[in-house]
Amino acid sequence: MSTEVTMKIAIIGAGSGYMPGVIRGLLHRADDLAGAELAFYDVDAANLTVIARLATNMFAARGAAFTVTAHTDLKPALDGAAYIFTTFRPGGMAARHLDESIPLKHGVVGQETAGPGGFLMACRSIPVLLEIAAHAEPDAWIVNYTNPTNIVTDAVTRNTGIRIIGLCDQFVGDTEMWAQLLGLPYERLEVDWIGLNHATWAERVRLDGKEVDLPALLADLEVPGGGATPWRDPSRMAELAKALGFLPNSYSKYYFFHDQVVEELRAKGTTRAEDIQAMLPGFRAQVTEESYKPDPDPSRERGGGEHGEFAIDVICTLHLGESRRVIVNTTNNNAISSLPPDAIVEVPSLLTAAGPVPLVQGPLPRAVRGLTQAIHEYERLASDAAVTGSRRLALQALMAHPFVTGKHTAEKILDEGLAAHRAYLPQFG
Ligand code: G6P
Ligand code: MN
Repeated sequence: MSTEVTMKIAIIGAGSGYMPGVIRGLLHRADDLAGAELAFYDVDAANLTVIARLATNMFAARGAAFTVTAHTDLKPALDGAAYIFTTFRPGGMAARHLDESIPLKHGVVGQETAGPGGFLMACRSIPVLLEIAAHAEPDAWIVNYTNPTNIVTDAVTRNTGIRIIGLCDQFVGDTEMWAQLLGLPYERLEVDWIGLNHATWAERVRLDGKEVDLPALLADLEVPGGGATPWRDPSRMAELAKALGFLPNSYSKYYFFHDQVVEELRAKGTTRAEDIQAMLPGFRAQVTEESYKPDPDPSRERGGGEHGEFAIDVICTLHLGESRRVIVNTTNNNAISSLPPDAIVEVPSLLTAAGPVPLVQGPLPRAVRGLTQAIHEYERLASDAAVTGSRRLALQALMAHPFVTGKHTAEKILDEGLAAHRAYLPQFG
C-alpha cells in the first residue's frame, strides 16, 4: 500500500494466537487510524511471517489503509512508534506450564497471573518491558496486555519515564456473566469494578444510569450448578456474591476456594497451558491456510471479540482525543481510598489524549479490603524483585501472597521456579 504514513503503532508479540482478534480490532477502527504503520515484532519469525501476511490480506480485502512491516529486531520496530501495544509471553506456553505446575506441586494454586505462577511470569515479562521502555520514543504510550498486567504496569511506571496503561478485558466477560445471573440487560449496565487486576469487586451497578439494589438482587439469587469455563465459574461466583453482598471478579475463586481449586487442578491432570498447547497446532494450521487467501477468515478460538477491540479502542481514544470511561490499570492517586496513592489499581477512568484519570470510588468493601491490600503489598514486592533480581525481595513477595502459607513453601516454589525459568531471568544472575 502506498498510503502516506500518519502514525506508527508497534505491536510487540505479533506472532501471538491473539493476533487474529487484534487485526479484527484494527479493522473495526480502520477509518480512525487510516494511514498508520503497524510494525509487527516477534521473536518467532515463522509465526510473525504468517500474521503479517494474514493482516496484509485482511486489510487489503477491506480497503483498510494500513502499512504492515515485520521485525525480529526490537529497535526498528519501536523507532518512531507513538503507541506500543505489548501482547507477548516470554517462554510461551511451555513457560506457562511451569508457572501453573510448580506451585501446585507444593499445594498452592498454579495460575498464570495470580499467586506464585504470576510472580514467575512477572519476573520474565518485566525485563522485556523495561528494555522496550528503554528503546521507546520519550512521548510514546505503552498499551499493555502482557501479564501480570498490573505488576508490569507498576514496574514500568516506577522505573521508567515511559507512560503505560495496563489492560485486561476480564471485566467485560464478568459483567456479561453477572448480567445473566442477575437477569439484567448487559448493554444497559455500567459496573464500577474496583481493586487490583484479577482482584476487583463491584458494589455499584447502574442500569440506564440508575443504581440497582444489589444486596436485594443477590439475596434472591439462586446459585446455579455447573457452567464453569476456563475463565469463569458462575456457580462459585454466585455463592460468593451471596455471602459478600457485592460482586466478585471471577479470579476471586482462587482466593476463596483455594484448597478446592488445588484439588480440582490436581485431579484434572493437565495444566491450562497443556490444554492450549494441544489445540495450538490445529489453530496455527487454520490461520496459516487463511493467511494466503484474498479475504482471510482466521479462527476465533483464541482471543475473541472484546480483547482486540478493547485495546484498539484505547489507542484510538489516546490518538483522537476522544473522551471515554474505561476500566484500566493505572496510578490510583486517591481514587480508591483503601490503597496507596501510588498503587497501580484497576479502576473506572476517564481516558482522553492525556491518558487515564481514575474516577473517585471511595473505599474497598470491608470484607475484601484486607485481602486486596495484602495482594497489593505482594504486587509491590514482586515488581521490585522482578526489576532488581533480589532473591530476598522475591522470597518476601511470595511469603506476602495470600495463597502461600509458610516460608518453606515460598522457598521451594521460588528455588524451583527460578531454576526452571533461568534462561528468561537475567536479572537473577
Ligand atoms: C482472561 C484474562 C487474561 C488471561 C486469559 C487467559 O482473558 O483476563 O489475563 O491471560 O484469560 O486465557 P487462556 O485462554 O489463555 O487461558
Ligand atoms: Mn486479564
